[in-house]
Amino acid sequence: MFKVFCILLSLLVLSRGQKQRCDQTPPQATVITPSDNMGIYRMSISTKGNDTNIYRPDQTYVLKLTTNNATRPFRWFMITVEDPEMDNNSEYDPKLVDVGSLKTIDTNKQSRYSERCYNSVENTDNSDKYKVEIHWVSPKQNARRQKVRLRAMVAENKEVWHVGENLTITLEKDDRRPLDSPPYPPEPNCNLCSEAQYEVIFNGRWSRMTHPRYYPSKPDDNGYSHLVGASHSFSHTIWQPADQASPGLQKLAEEADISLIEREIIDSMSPLNGTRTLIIGKRRFHPNMGEPSHSLFRVDNVHHLFSLVVAIKPSPDWFLGAYKFELCTNVGWLKESEIPLFPWDAGTMDGVSYEIQFSHALTCKMIYRKNREKTQKKKKMKKRSQ
Ligand SMILES: *[C@@H]1O[C@H](CO)[C@@H](O)[C@H](O)[C@H]1NC(C)=O
Ligand SMILES: *[C@@H]1O[C@H](CO)[C@@H](O)[C@H](O)[C@H]1NC(C)=O
Ligand SMILES: *[C@@H]1O[C@H](CO)[C@@H](O)[C@H](O)[C@H]1NC(C)=O
Ligand SMILES: *[C@@H]1O[C@H](CO)[C@@H](O)[C@H](O)[C@H]1NC(C)=O
Ligand SMILES: *[C@@H]1O[C@H](CO)[C@@H](O)[C@H](O)[C@H]1NC(C)=O
Repeated sequence: MFKVFCILLSLLVLSRGQKQRCDQTPPQATVITPSDNMGIYRMSISTKGNDTNIYRPDQTYVLKLTTNNATRPFRWFMITVEDPEMDNNSEYDPKLVDVGSLKTIDTNKQSRYSERCYNSVENTDNSDKYKVEIHWVSPKQNARRQKVRLRAMVAENKEVWHVGENLTITLEKDDRRPLDSPPYPPEPNCNLCSEAQYEVIFNGRWSRMTHPRYYPSKPDDNGYSHLVGASHSFSHTIWQPADQASPGLQKLAEEADISLIEREIIDSMSPLNGTRTLIIGKRRFHPNMGEPSHSLFRVDNVHHLFSLVVAIKPSPDWFLGAYKFELCTNVGWLKESEIPLFPWDAGTMDGVSYEIQFSHALTCKMIYRKNREKTQKKKKMKKRSQ
């Protein structure tokens, strides 16, 4: 009697567990316990530099499943992305948590979305595999959960399959302020009464000297598009990560053609909202890509932010840019700032942006401040004396 009760209880626990955590046991398996990996199979992720255990929000990462023994390919696999919190929380609902998304963009069509589990991809066929690539788009900036676990299973055959160490990656969100973010966050209201004029300078730093890796073999085609952007209000967006690219940004990123984005900016000009000054800087081509491109623009207490972009050639859809750069601060207009720029992709073509790691710089300097308050006072005084 006691035995029966125990079995019932463990069955109950098992079925509850399966509901929450994806059971990666291959459906074909005749042995239900995984085998020792012996360091043969591995899942790796393309994190940049030293940041091996952290991810940045809204980025595309490449996951690779590999075997290091040419005589030991794998036939079946599964990759699941999940929140490790689920291990300890029986009320856990994977549908409610943003763990990013896996994308099956492999060229050999080796993977598809799993019907067995949430947030999982698996093999499409029984062929021998030596390497599988999957993309993982990390959670959005405002996602609540901080930790993400990527868990893989590889199966050699019905008897031998592996999970666990070397096939599991746990990452934490990077909460440091990104290097390329402006010094002040965007604020809805600006209480400054004056206007200011700024000069923005873009410095390209891409050359064979500075970035010999991945430098194109025919540099004659290399170049930056015009610098294009605007000063604008808090509620206006020219571009921002994780948003769908506007047709203008898409055209700029893919063809280095600014005509459409320029039109979008001009059409949004308004004294109460939208954009104020159109920013246009010279385009630079090889061998003059090191020459700066600059532009002047005006800001006021409605249009106290600016955004801008520069497309990179040759590239599928990469661009450099700053978005919602706040110039209005508690202590007056920002005097000067310099930030590095790293390439973004417009998400319109399948570019491999993670392979290029180079930075450019954007300097922004206040060059002139017009005090509206004073001019208004003077006018009033004149009126009185008249
Ligand atoms: C994981 O990889 C390391 C390095 O290749 C290896 O020493 C270790 O035995 C592997 N662990 C397992 C469980 O295969
Ligand atoms: C990586 O770590 C090494 C040694 O700790 C350090 O010298 C280097 O600057 C780091 N690189 C980056 C990109 O942080
Ligand atoms: C690869 O696996 C085979 C079969 O298990 C083994 O005999 C061979 O030594 C392995 N090769 C290497 C380089 O580890
Ligand atoms: C779950 O609980 C165990 C035991 O208390 C602990 O070691 C583990 O770190 C917890 N896991 C998570 C993801 O909180
Ligand atoms: C500015 O435009 C945004 C979006 O178009 C709108 O939500 C906001 O209310 C507008 N603000 C003003 C002051 O008109």
